[in-house]
Order: sequence, then C-alpha cells, then structure tokens
Amino acid sequence: MKRLKVAVLGCGSVGSQVVRLLTEQADDLAARVGAPVELVGVAVRRLDAPREVEVAPGLLTTDAHGLVSGGEVDLVVELIGGIEPARSLILTALEHGASVVSANKALLAEDGSTLFEAAEKAGRDLYYEAAVAGAIPILRPLRESLAGDTVTRVLGIVNGTTNFVLDKMDTTGAGFTDALEEAQELGYAEADPTADVEGFDAAAKAAILASLAFHSRVTVADVYREGISEVTAADVASAREMDAVVKLLAICELKDGAVAARVHPAMIPRSHPLASVREAYNAVFVESEAAGQLMFYGPGAGGSPTASAVLGDLVTVARNRLAETRGTGESSYAARAVLPMGET
Ligand code: HSE
Repeated sequence: MKRLKVAVLGCGSVGSQVVRLLTEQADDLAARVGAPVELVGVAVRRLDAPREVEVAPGLLTTDAHGLVSGGEVDLVVELIGGIEPARSLILTALEHGASVVSANKALLAEDGSTLFEAAEKAGRDLYYEAAVAGAIPILRPLRESLAGDTVTRVLGIVNGTTNFVLDKMDTTGAGFTDALEEAQELGYAEADPTADVEGFDAAAKAAILASLAFHSRVTVADVYREGISEVTAADVASAREMDAVVKLLAICELKDGAVAARVHPAMIPRSHPLASVREAYNAVFVESEAAGQLMFYGPGAGGSPTASAVLGDLVTVARNRLAETRGTGESSYAARAVLPMGET
C-alpha cells in the first residue's frame, strides 16, 4: 500500500502539536485517509531548541530546502510564517510534486496569487484553513459550502489578542495598557504586540476572507486598517451606556459589485451575536442571499486548536492525492473589482 510522506516545516507551538497529532493518531489518520501518513522530516531553525513535544532526533533537520526538494515528500506542512523563506519553500515543494498545507496568513494575504498559480501549474493542492481563525472551519465553508450562494457581507472577530483586551476593558473598566499587560501575562499577546493591536494580523485575515467570500483576489494592501491602541476606557464606557460593545472587526462586503475590506474598532449592539464573543475567542458572521445569516465560532489561536485545522487540511489533501485529484479552486476566481483601501 502506498505510504504518504509528510514533511513539517517549523516546530513552534502549532508545529509541535501537528507533530504530536500525526504521531499519536497515526492509525486513525491512516484509516481516514485510506493509506498510512508517515512523518519523514521536521525542519527547524535550531536542532537544540526546547520544544513542546519530543521529536525523534532522526526526523529533525535544519535543511528545509533539502527536505522539500528531494522529490520524495508527498505532503508539505508549512508552519514557519512570514514571507521568506516560507514562499520559496512552498514554491519549491510544489515544483517537486508535493501538495501543501499552510497556516501562513501573512504570505497568503500578500502574495497568494503566486502560490495559487504555482499550485495550479503543478496540479497540486494548496490548503490553508488554519490561516484564519485557528480551529474554526470558515475558509472551506466560504470556498465550498457557500459556493452556490452569493455572500454579501462577512464580519469577523479574527484576532484573539485584541478581543481579549477589549473584553477586559469592557468587563473591568481597565484602560488599554493595563488590559494589554494582562493579555501578555496570560500568554495571549506577544512580547511585541504590534501585529495584533495595530490590526495587521486581522487585515491579513480580512484579505483572505474577502478573496474567498467574493471569489476574488484581495491582498492585504487593499484592506483599510486601524488597530485598537487608541481605544480608551472612556470609549468603552460610552459604548456600554448605549448598550453596545467595542470590537475589532474585519468587515468584507460588496459595494455596487466591487469588494471592500477594512479592519477597525466598531461599536456593536449587545444584541448582535458577535457581541457575545468573549476573551480570546474568534467568530465570523456571514450574510448571504440564500442562506441568510450564519455564525462560525470557536478558538481562533493556540497550538492545539490551530493544529486541528492543519490536520483537517492534511487529511483532505492526502485523500485528494490518493484519488489523483485536486480540490482547491482559487484559480477560477471572478475578476471582480476591489475598491482601493479606505474607499468603502
Ligand atoms: N495573534 C493571533 C491572535 C494568533 O491573537 O488571534 C492567531 O492568528
């Protein structure tokens, strides 16, 4: 029976959990895929770095390029993040015949087209459910389940750190700095929280959501962005007086047939389903012509929840591989206009 060989690039909090699940659930995965899925290599920056899970020393390598260019790997899981070397490694993997699963929102939002075209040319899959809202299945519902409907608007709380900070400000009356310090102490926010609090992370996710919801090509450069660092305790208190709550929203919508995407703090009535999203949870609210309103809710970050989305993609990509087909359809997008940033 054919064995599917998997390489994992990056072994941080998500990579460690992917390696753990691949190892612990090997038998179940083989049954679900229809063939054994064998981890053959884990590319890391430093062999001696501390890790959340034990990785067999023979699997670790610092030569990520060598791992993906040998032509022996069927599936590559990219969890390095950032633009380079992630982009070159994904392109090399596709050129050498591998299918790819990635959680790299920054890369997909900046240069998804290059990756989709390379996947199309190679006849291989590129799946990236984990790039937006962690464990929440939202990209495949937009790309597949709702493909016969017309999505008109997507409203997302897609950054857990900022939702935690705004929720703390709302429930305790704390100011932004104190709430952020608490988020950092609890491990939600990074030591350098700029990407989260200034909305860069949410803007990348908005670009991906808008592209899939509207079968279009939206990059992070098209997304208007404003973070939460200027939100004060007084703003949150005023919202409370109006029976509203402040949330950092990613808003993607159709305006006269063109796509508009933006990220900014917004007041929403407490009666709206998104107002009930507390702490570091994420949720994406979708409005479409035929289905009406849908909400997708769950943990949007963290090693294990994000690894769940990665493994889901891996199973699908592995099944496609065995069936000698591919499931992604980003190449068949409609040439819809995208409104310039801020023109919404
Ligand atoms: N920093 C991100 C967040 C992690 O807080 O949501 C998941 O992309």
